[in-house]
Amino acid sequence: MSFSWHTKGTAQDPKSKVGLNKKNESARTRMEVCKALQHIVEGGRTIEWIRAEKAAWIATPLHRELIYGTTRHYLSLQQAVTELLKKPMRDKDRDLFQLLIVGAYQLKYTGIASYAIINESVNACVVLGKPWAKGLVNAVLRQLQRTAEAAQKDATQGEGVTTKQALAAATADHPPWLKDKLKMQYPAEWQALLIANSQRAPMTLRINTAKVEPGFYKAKLREDDIAFSESSMIETVILDTPQNAETLPSWSDGEVAVQDLSAQLAANTLMSMLPPHIAGPSILDACAAPGGKLFHLHERLNARFKTHQLFALDNKKKRLNETKIIGSRLGHSDDPRLTMLCADATNEDCCGDLLFDAILLDAPCSGSGTIRRNPDIRLLLRSDHLTAHQDLQLQLLHNLWRRLKEGGTLLYSTCSIFEEENDQVIDKFINAQAQSTAKAALVALNMQHGSATSLGWQLLPSAKNTDGFYYAGLTKVTQI
Ligand SMILES: C[S@@+](CC[C@H](N)C(=O)[O-])C[C@H]1O[C@@H](n2cnc3c(N)ncnc32)[C@H](O)[C@@H]1O
Repeated sequence: MSFSWHTKGTAQDPKSKVGLNKKNESARTRMEVCKALQHIVEGGRTIEWIRAEKAAWIATPLHRELIYGTTRHYLSLQQAVTELLKKPMRDKDRDLFQLLIVGAYQLKYTGIASYAIINESVNACVVLGKPWAKGLVNAVLRQLQRTAEAAQKDATQGEGVTTKQALAAATADHPPWLKDKLKMQYPAEWQALLIANSQRAPMTLRINTAKVEPGFYKAKLREDDIAFSESSMIETVILDTPQNAETLPSWSDGEVAVQDLSAQLAANTLMSMLPPHIAGPSILDACAAPGGKLFHLHERLNARFKTHQLFALDNKKKRLNETKIIGSRLGHSDDPRLTMLCADATNEDCCGDLLFDAILLDAPCSGSGTIRRNPDIRLLLRSDHLTAHQDLQLQLLHNLWRRLKEGGTLLYSTCSIFEEENDQVIDKFINAQAQSTAKAALVALNMQHGSATSLGWQLLPSAKNTDGFYYAGLTKVTQI
């Protein structure tokens, strides 16, 4: 889908006499955020797509704050704005609708002075080539300002935001099908899940143990007055306040990476599934890009073996190239024990004739466990996507199973909290293998976070500091 934009007399037109000054620079940011929102909400694009294809629209912290904030609360903001419009916006004025959404978000969720938000939004009408809309934008935002101020007054006079209010607000920010599914699959936790999905995700770091002692790096954080809490893993710390990763100590030296705690359980779990006396194992990370689990695994392998071989597979060349860049910063990409391959893991010949002692299948999925981190998921995910993911996940499992040595182990993971992509996949796979000579037997998992499901292990975003994640362990048992 493509959108047309009014560029005559705007900052985008190099011949424009209007030109850009400081004042309309922020109006331009607003316009770019509106474009990004149109692509997400009307074009079905993800924030990741905006990052990859329209980097300028998400380039600054302000762009990111506005894009992430508005997508997180889009559904309730949409309702509030729609109620104030006398008639729906014409298709060609959908940019103005997004402009109102951005203003509404700032009025409700940021501490910025209302007059500044309203002024900038009104100025953005000119940048959008629609000066006639200034009055409309001004009127709608003033109305929203009154509502936001009244709500704020109630909260200050009362006991702050009650759980009931938080739940009502979070519910309004979920499509009904998603709320219903959470309620059905998590009868005890669905309310906490809705609230967690509407909050900001914590920033968790992985200290690169191939480069620095965790204790030494933690001392650097303290020296820089970066407050953090420790976790169950020595290399994992959770920052009290998220910050730009590049401002972390020794970031450019690759001493640290950003990676959620749930995701960091993959490497440790796979390591614990290797036989105790194995030497120089050959391991496949079958869906490896952008390499979060891959490099963690390499760091852990590095500490235990000298001669391991780690293969990283992904079917997206661009993502693999980005993985290499990340690996270079961390000091892994030139290591001869690490090989990156671009191939489709559902293809029989994806790995040539290689056989592996262990496989990590971090399967493509809905990302339903990471909605607070990727708020666009709530707008883009549909329930039928889950079954489509399941089909691919099963194809990947069946194909990769052939590449596992007898007695080898496979760790299956998703960042989903829905059974369609988790226990159901494992159940179908074990049943399908039951008649073959290479049966799949479950390996019991026991992690320090989350809880057991019928067949695997589930982490939820409603728990402190973990994204929603699923793991299941399998071992290949050959029939006698
Ligand atoms: C959940 S992401 C992997 C995240 C990665 N393991 C990490 O920790 O950073 C899933 C990956 O699977 C890749 N993928 C999807 N379909 C694939 C296929 N048929 N073969 C190989 N890779 C695939 C995607 O390109 C994507 O990079």
